[in-house]
Amino acid sequence: MSYDGSVQFTDVRRVFDGRSGNAHVAVDKVSLLLDSTTRLGIVGESGSGKSTLVRLMMGLDFATSGSVEYRGRDLKSMSKSEIHEFRTNVQLVAQDTSSSFDPRRSLRDGVRRPLLTLLGLSTKEANERVDSTLESLSIDPSLADRKPHQVSGGQRQRFSIARALVIEPKLIVCDEAVSALDVSVQGSVLNLLKDHCVHNEAGLVFVSHGLPATAFICEELIVMYQGVIVEQGSTSQVVFHSEHPYTRSLVDAYRTTASSDRSGAAR
Ligand SMILES: Nc1ncnc2c1ncn2[C@@H]1O[C@H](COP(=O)(O)OP(=O)(O)OP(=O)(O)O)[C@@H](O)[C@H]1O
Ligand SMILES: [Mg+2]
Repeated sequence: MSYDGSVQFTDVRRVFDGRSGNAHVAVDKVSLLLDSTTRLGIVGESGSGKSTLVRLMMGLDFATSGSVEYRGRDLKSMSKSEIHEFRTNVQLVAQDTSSSFDPRRSLRDGVRRPLLTLLGLSTKEANERVDSTLESLSIDPSLADRKPHQVSGGQRQRFSIARALVIEPKLIVCDEAVSALDVSVQGSVLNLLKDHCVHNEAGLVFVSHGLPATAFICEELIVMYQGVIVEQGSTSQVVFHSEHPYTRSLVDAYRTTASSDRSGAAR
């Protein structure tokens, strides 16, 4: 069977037990196909369930009910070799970069690791791939010998993107991947991500609070509100024909920013 790169959510619900005994439904009724042919944006306010969804799609957390499947196999019952294949094809840029690198090892080591463990490259080959990936992301190579806590949040975020791209996965999942970057470099990193996806025929799941970056990079959009998908369609459909009040407020904010940018540029 040829690789179809897809992760299928079917009627997924994730409930967390609250401290006071109250259950909290973080994600509900989510049915969704993620694949290597689409750049899909997921937007929603803080607490709407975006990172929970990301953790479920990466097999870092499991649904309370419903299923999340990769190549027809539930993520929670995959064998070791299936997990290996999944990690080779689906990579995450996590929201919290401070805990996503081993604090005792250099950032170079962190970026190199998937090349050694997943692709089985030699150290020499892996180092060459790391260097070219760092260069493509305009990362200062001298930073690579530092430990994760010895660089800024924005610098660490770029290393996190480098680690996800270095093995050329078929699906890249980015949770707030550019939010710690300067606005001046956000655009170039977004362009790089987009080019990488087009060039490698990879899919993207791009999670963000805001519409501008997401609408720029994604062809399809999902809007989450209180754990459920309230809007889904092509980016232009969602931007121009949104129905849910929350989506409309997002679109209004987006239009205001875009028009003040234009008038600022005209001055
Ligand atoms: N491990 C957990 N235990 C209990 N509640 C949790 C847990 N993880 C998330 N939640 C709750 O689930 C809801 C969704 O959280 P989630 O992190 O998915 O939101 P988010 O949309 O990613 O928010 P943000 O934009 O701030 O990153 C929140 O109300 C959160 O407090
Ligand atoms: Mg989040």
